Amino acid sequence: MNSDEKPILRIKGLNKFYSGGFQALKDINLEIEKGEIVALLGPNGAGKTTLISVVCGIVNPSSGTVSVDGYDIIKDFRKTRSIIGLVPQELTTDSFETVFNTVGFSRGLFGKPPNDEHIEKVLRSLSLWNKKDDMIMTLSGGMKRRVLIAKALSHEPTVLFLDEPTAGVDVNLRKDMWEIVHELKAEGVTIILTTHYIEEAEEIADRIGVINNGEIILMEDKEKLMAKLGKKQLILDLCDRLSAVPESMADFELELSDNGLQLVYTFTTQRDRTGITALMDDLKLEGIVFRDLNTTQSSLEEIFVNLVEESS
Ligand SMILES: Nc1ncnc2c1ncn2[C@@H]1O[C@H](COP(=O)(O)OP(=O)(O)OP(=O)(O)O)[C@@H](O)[C@H]1O
Ligand SMILES: [Mg+2]
Repeated sequence: MNSDEKPILRIKGLNKFYSGGFQALKDINLEIEKGEIVALLGPNGAGKTTLISVVCGIVNPSSGTVSVDGYDIIKDFRKTRSIIGLVPQELTTDSFETVFNTVGFSRGLFGKPPNDEHIEKVLRSLSLWNKKDDMIMTLSGGMKRRVLIAKALSHEPTVLFLDEPTAGVDVNLRKDMWEIVHELKAEGVTIILTTHYIEEAEEIADRIGVINNGEIILMEDKEKLMAKLGKKQLILDLCDRLSAVPESMADFELELSDNGLQLVYTFTTQRDRTGITALMDDLKLEGIVFRDLNTTQSSLEEIFVNLVEESS
């Protein structure tokens, strides 16, 4: 165990039926390498929280196996749970205890000896240091969420689950979070997060998974995904109004704006530059002159919406 070559998280043939018979997870197979950042995207009710809850030992699997760093989540529960940090989706912190004590206590729960220096470092990184002596119940919602993150980091986990860590938080916390994620990754921590903010996945993930109706419908390297499914557009602002796209250029499937002053050429990254060169040549032949040229690329958001629509 503890070998760097082995996946840190291995899920095999995982199914989950809730009492009542509803199947929330369908034959999930997934391997995550040490130090990866994986973003799980999916509509409400897709099964993201259920998946995380199984790995963290909060929900029992109906069948299948899950191992963390080579340890089985059921047989070696205490071991796997001590490796994992979890920032849950729901806010449950409401106590008279202070921020510092709450976070320190959390560390103790996982059998780690007290380490005030570490707690201080975590609280500072989350801009919670000036609140360390405040009672949890006096904090705002966003501050409570910061405390949840601090608790999850209190025992120095090497696998961190963030279940919608930035839902309902302000821009500052989101930016702090992203920074913390990058720092943790540099330390070798593996991070799995769910999010509805696609820009968040775009910003921090190495791999993107999409879950829909309890199934993983896609799991792919982010760069590859964007290159494969991302569309690019070339937008030409014309000098003179055009009444129609010339017949000779029909193959490019250009779109002409209503005012006749803009031509849009849509291409995938595979159908690369050769198309653009040919387009330029043809424009010249037809005597179409443009005064400006811009490109746009589809965002992960558009890719995601298309995928979920296709699979439903
Ligand atoms: N304890 C439970 N008993 C029965 N059904 C449940 C239970 N918990 C969740 N479910 C159902 O399982 C499905 C998956 O729920 P889950 O919370 O995993 O989705 P999610 O992807 O996290 O959604 P969201 O984006 O809204 O957080 C949903 O249909 C939900 O109603
Ligand atoms: Mg959820």
